[in-house]
Amino acid sequence: MKNTVVTIRQAKEKGEKLTMLTAYDYSMAKLIDGAGINMILVGDSLGMVMLGYEDTISVTMEDMIHHTRAVARGTSNALVVADMPFLSYQTSVYDAVCNAGRLMKEGRAQAVKLEGGREFAEHIRAITNASIPVVAHLGLTPQSLNAFGGFKVQGKSEEAARKLVEDAKIVEEAGAVAVVLECVPAKLAELISGQLHIPTIGIGAGAGCDGQVLVYQDMLAMFGDFKPKFVKQFAEIGAMMKEAFGKYIEEVRSGAFPAPEHTFKIDDDVIEKLY
Ligand code: KIV
Repeated sequence: MKNTVVTIRQAKEKGEKLTMLTAYDYSMAKLIDGAGINMILVGDSLGMVMLGYEDTISVTMEDMIHHTRAVARGTSNALVVADMPFLSYQTSVYDAVCNAGRLMKEGRAQAVKLEGGREFAEHIRAITNASIPVVAHLGLTPQSLNAFGGFKVQGKSEEAARKLVEDAKIVEEAGAVAVVLECVPAKLAELISGQLHIPTIGIGAGAGCDGQVLVYQDMLAMFGDFKPKFVKQFAEIGAMMKEAFGKYIEEVRSGAFPAPEHTFKIDDDVIEKLY
């Protein structure tokens, strides 16, 4: 069944947990979509896991459109959500609508995600009014890494927790169709989930959220630079890939690959005429 903003909202009403994973290319999108995921996020995490940057700051609109288009081609049933990269919406409401529109029109995203709360309520409202569904992102917002002074759990003091609850309500009121809660204490995320009508999608925010999201390289143990505490490795694909690459190198060097079954035939009399 095709996942839409309507079915996502209905899932929360029915108490069904929502699933989201990142993807950045056609093949991975096809695998994840085929497994029955609700939403695929083309995250700006691609800056780190696909492009090798140390953070998400350098990711451009062109990067996001290029990868979103590939993911959209590999997706049949999941809702494709594309991240709005740093400075594609912070500069003005006008830029926010234009760039969200590009992600939908050129990238074929079905929703966009942007980081921030009350300060972007106007942007969320304007994008929503342009018929582009918006997923908000609160808590640890990696594009504000330099302002936060590092990757830290958010909302731990009473003041910060209160602000997070208010921000969640403000983005809902502005029209957001879901909210990602990143690195938020589990009890606070549960409280926020209970107070919103739209689904919360947690990453490092505990089981009380309405859904979960992970970066696929993290959950498949394919990204070795660091492992956040909230990541569960569901398979050791990185190690399996390394082993397979090693076998390939060995077999090419030994002559075991390619074997006769991997080659194409030609009549001997044709070959003889060439000598
Ligand atoms: O960019 C990303 O992958 C994200 C998730 C971590 C939620 O924003």
